[in-house]
Amino acid sequence: MAAGKKRTALVTGATDGVGRVVAKNLGKQGWRVLVHGRDRGRGEALVREIEQAGGTANFLAADLSSLAEVGQLAEAVKKTTDHLELLINNAGIGTTGNAPGRQISKDGHELRFAVNYLAGFQLTSLLMPMLKASKPSRIVNVSSAGQEAINFDDVMLTKHYSGSTAYRQSKLAQILFTVDLADQLKGSGVIANALHPSTYMNTTMVRQSGVTPMSTVETGAEAILQLAVSPKLEGKSGLYFNVMNEARADAQAYDAKARKQLRELSLKLTRL
Ligand SMILES: NC(=O)c1ccc[n+]([C@@H]2O[C@H](COP(=O)([O-])OP(=O)(O)OC[C@H]3O[C@@H](n4cnc5c(N)ncnc54)[C@H](OP(=O)(O)O)[C@@H]3O)[C@@H](O)[C@H]2O)c1
Repeated sequence: MAAGKKRTALVTGATDGVGRVVAKNLGKQGWRVLVHGRDRGRGEALVREIEQAGGTANFLAADLSSLAEVGQLAEAVKKTTDHLELLINNAGIGTTGNAPGRQISKDGHELRFAVNYLAGFQLTSLLMPMLKASKPSRIVNVSSAGQEAINFDDVMLTKHYSGSTAYRQSKLAQILFTVDLADQLKGSGVIANALHPSTYMNTTMVRQSGVTPMSTVETGAEAILQLAVSPKLEGKSGLYFNVMNEARADAQAYDAKARKQLRELSLKLTRL
């Protein structure tokens, strides 16, 4: 990176919840922040807020329930910057969302699998050349302690759907992907880690599920920022953190066969 250029971070789902706090904080720390969201009004308001605090930011719109829009987001990132040191895959839908029952993405995939996991898989893959060229760089996958093994016979949950299963398998898929990434990225200067940011933060997805919030977005943001910027994480990859501490994820994350199955399915679904 040329001297004087700001390090650049893309934060998905930065228009609400913990992503919004992370984006503002990175702006204050001197990063150029690419604020991703689907709502232009709220995205541009956040850009102004970051700028008013002395930071630099740009808004990039995309609905992550569409593979085409994820592709367009990657293209927009490449048009906006020629280097990317940090990618935070944070956007997500909770167990309940704003509609009951099984929902599908624009491409016909189960919606939580599509938005919470597959979009991040596709976006990361499309931005990988830039992340590698910008080394040392980092990928943070915002997962959850809510994890359920993926049933490869019914990944799209056509037979036994529940919002909780859909959410939990999509969150575990992110961790399988993280462990896989760490293997693929050995020696590349790019590290990838995943985390449970905090339990029942006071955010839209938690309020929608009817649960009484138990923690703050500031707690979750601190945990995400540790993986994103702390020198303690230098050279560490493929790890799962429960808030601030390294922890063990569901056993399926450490099953190489399951990771291969998920990787092959994801490549097929995203046509990468
Ligand atoms: N809250 C918790 O206690 C908790 C616990 C564990 C893990 N997490 C994880 O933390 C992350 C952030 O969640 P949060 O609690 O901050 O929730 P939130 O306030 O509901 O924010 C979710 C973000 O994702 C975006 N998003 C949702 N669907 C999208 C789509 N189709 N396309 C593009 N963006 C989309 C939302 O956009 P809009 O602004 O347009 O709605 C919003 O910016 C999630 O990955 C979640 O699973 C949260």
